[in-house]
Amino acid sequence: MNVFAKTIGFSLGLTLVFTSVTQLLPQVEGEAPVERKVDLGSLTMDDFVAMGEDLFMNKGTCTLCHKPAPLGRAPDIQGMDMVSISAKRLADERYQGEAKDAAGYILESMLEPSKFVVAGWGKKGSNDTVSPMPHIDKPPIQLSAMEIDAVIAYLQAKDGNEVTVSLPSPEAAAEVAAAAPAAGGAAPAPAVTAEEALGKYACSSCHAMDSEDVLVGPGLGTIGARLSEAGIRQSIVDPAAVIVEGFPPAMPPDFAEKMTVKELQMIVTFLAEKK
Ligand code: HEC
Ligand code: HEC
Repeated sequence: MNVFAKTIGFSLGLTLVFTSVTQLLPQVEGEAPVERKVDLGSLTMDDFVAMGEDLFMNKGTCTLCHKPAPLGRAPDIQGMDMVSISAKRLADERYQGEAKDAAGYILESMLEPSKFVVAGWGKKGSNDTVSPMPHIDKPPIQLSAMEIDAVIAYLQAKDGNEVTVSLPSPEAAAEVAAAAPAAGGAAPAPAVTAEEALGKYACSSCHAMDSEDVLVGPGLGTIGARLSEAGIRQSIVDPAAVIVEGFPPAMPPDFAEKMTVKELQMIVTFLAEKK
């Protein structure tokens, strides 16, 4: 009996529930989150690849920037075979990183994006030496090492390449399962401060908040001196209404549906005070 109870406890401990609703970009209210259960004890490479795809589309926020032109703000890596592209990058005379193979290059792109900046995609004015891509292991995105491996597995597998990252060990999997949200995958709670709301919607992936440095979008360090509260509100809820000169229309158009009224108000007030 005891052994039976223990076994049950153990296999529950290895069940990771993850949802495609992300911390950062919650779905429209009322739309049921797609929930996927993965038993990490019997995780197959196909499961791991599927998990990587889900992370790429959702929690990782990769598709905020990596999508086809003209909307993409980064190479369209879903439309590229990243394994053969990686070989090209490693052979590029500008390459100064430490990666030795495709998995290493993809990993380095996520952890230290400025090690190699794809020509034409660098931060404005940096002459392709500084990448506008956020560090994927740091807030606000903050994928775990296991999640990052899953994304690499997905990028290798999607074009039929051999997957070279290993499946997580049962110990690593158990740790993640322990930290995973309780079953049921509740939608992320509304943010209670403006800073929290800016993190939740990944604004700082594209905007410097304390300076006028250009990332993907303009710096917002003194936005309150440039725009009225109404103007700031409009640029969030209806970004297509006014496109800042010299920038692509890359701001996600659906914040209005995703934010609570209070979150929007907190962000607008916070930004209006930045002068
Ligand atoms: C805020 C925009 C942004 C987000 C979000 C983002 N990236 Fe990037 N990424 C870029 C830009 C811009 C480049 C090209 C410049 C460079 O080489 O760093 C890039 C480059 C890359 C490259 C190298 C591509 C090549 O052709 O060599 C990989 C791989 C990559 N990103 C993976 C990811 C993954 C995986 C995620 C999500 C976990 C992600 N990126 C999220 C902007 C972004
Ligand atoms: C994928 C990148 C991206 C994300 C994420 C993003 N923005 Fe933007 N944002 C842009 C770009 C590009 C522009 C400039 C083009 C335009 O006007 O739409 C912009 C413009 C703006 C402007 C107008 C700036 C000016 O100088 O007039 C404000 C304000 C702003 N964003 C706020 C936000 C807030 C708040 C969030 C999070 C809720 C956010 N953005 C998320 C890319 C992004």
